[in-house]
Amino acid sequence: MRRKLVVGNWKMNGNLAQNKTLLDTLVRDLRGIDHADFAVCVPYPYLFQAQAILSGTNIAWGAQNIAKHGAGAYTGEVSAAMLKEFDSSYVIIGHSERSNAYCESDANIASKFAVAKGFGITPIFCVGETLQERESGVMEYAIANQLDFVLSVSGGALLDNAVVAYEPVWAIGTNKTATPEQAQAAHSFIRERISALHPGAAESVRIIYGGSVNPINAAQLLSMPDIDGGLIGRCSLDAADFERICRAACQF
Ligand code: PGA
Repeated sequence: MRRKLVVGNWKMNGNLAQNKTLLDTLVRDLRGIDHADFAVCVPYPYLFQAQAILSGTNIAWGAQNIAKHGAGAYTGEVSAAMLKEFDSSYVIIGHSERSNAYCESDANIASKFAVAKGFGITPIFCVGETLQERESGVMEYAIANQLDFVLSVSGGALLDNAVVAYEPVWAIGTNKTATPEQAQAAHSFIRERISALHPGAAESVRIIYGGSVNPINAAQLLSMPDIDGGLIGRCSLDAADFERICRAACQF
């Protein structure tokens, strides 16, 4: 039985005062709820604040990107060792907002995945098709390509304690959520694909859904057998919405 995981992706939002209110509220309202795992992925400057407020609670924290290099002359990059200094448990890798805007290659994403694992940080590896790919019938081909590259570089053992996020690009930030059936079909495809490459890993790897999840659609999505949680953008910035999604995950 896979435990559900709900992760907030704050993206480039927040400030010290707002974060404090949001995190203090979540700590208070999620205290003692232990049927699922919860985390927030915050902008780098707020890792220290997340660590200070969330240490010892049932909410983990992490970042939204990681450097593929260990250290050195890489202006603007942040290494795995640095994330580890703030006890980060998770890092989002290959989010479409990054891969599209900064031309992130599959090879880069594969390196980042391996670096995170090497430091004991759970990578949340995002895959998903564009609207054009879905409408032209090559959705599975597109997802398989993204998965295969990382899985072939990383090997099955690296999938232990890793998370895959299915994030259809057309559903992110658009209020066009995939239907539970559409999402389940994609998640099942991803699990089968993993199974074909690394049979041992497929049953345990958590595959979470991201793309316009809100308190109203969360329970239906999370009730699907292959949907092991959610990656939540906008609704993770509102304590009440995020809490409701976290509570929905605990029903299954
Ligand atoms: P959204 O973002 O919930 O605002 O659609 C999801 C994501 O990008 O992870």
